[in-house]
Amino acid sequence: MEIKKLTAEFVLERLDLAQISIGIDNERALTSLLKSELCRGTEYFGAFVEQKCVGWISFWVDQEGIFSNAEPPRIMDLAVEKDFRRQKVASQLLEFACDRVEAAGFKRFMVTTGGSMFNARLFYVKNGFRQIACVPNWFGDGNSSDQAIFMKTFTGAKV
Ligand SMILES: CC(C)(COP(=O)(O)OP(=O)(O)OC[C@H]1O[C@@H](n2cnc3c(N)ncnc32)[C@H](O)[C@@H]1OP(=O)(O)O)[C@@H](O)C(=O)NCCC(=O)NCCS
Repeated sequence: MEIKKLTAEFVLERLDLAQISIGIDNERALTSLLKSELCRGTEYFGAFVEQKCVGWISFWVDQEGIFSNAEPPRIMDLAVEKDFRRQKVASQLLEFACDRVEAAGFKRFMVTTGGSMFNARLFYVKNGFRQIACVPNWFGDGNSSDQAIFMKTFTGAKV
C-alpha cells in the first residue's frame, strides 16, 4: 500500500469516500464541505492499492502554530472502501497522519466522531486515542446523536 497526497481535483471526484466518512448523501453538500476544507488548508492523503485509491485521511493543522492551543490539529475525514476494511488500511493512514503532525511539533491530535459510530470509536482507541468528552444531543434539537471527542497526545516515544 502506498500513501500519496491527493490533489483538490482528485478529492472532489471521490465523493464516494466523502460520503463514507461524513455520512451524508447529498452531492452538493458534500462538494461544498470538501471545498471549504480544501480552502482552509486541510490536506487529503489517499491509500493506494494497485493504483486504486481505496481510502483516505484528511487533517487540518494550524500551519503557523499561532492558535494551536485553541484548535489543535484535527482529523476531518477518514474512510476506507468496504472491500478493503480490516486490512489495516486506516491504521496505516492514521499512523502516517500522526507522524506528520508530531514531526511538525504538535503535541495533540484530535478527532470527533458520531456517537453511533462504534467501529470508528474502537478503531481510534485501538490506535492510541482516548475519548476525552462525549457531547450528548450535539445539535441541541433533541433528536441529534452524541458526538465523541478523541485525543492523542504525543509523548515523543512511539509505542
Ligand atoms: C473505521 C474505518 C476507517 C476503519 O478502517 P479499517 O481499514 O477497516 O481499519 P483497520 O483495519 O486499520 O482496523 C484497525 C483496528 O481497529 C478496530 N476496528 C476497525 N474496524 C472495526 C470494526 N468494524 N469493528 C470493530 N473494530 C474495528 C479493530 O481493533 C482493528 O484491528 P483488528 O482488525 O486487528 O481487530 C472504516 O471502518 C470506515 O471507513 N468506516 C466508515 C467511516 C468512518 O467511520 N470513519 C471514521 C469517522 S471519523
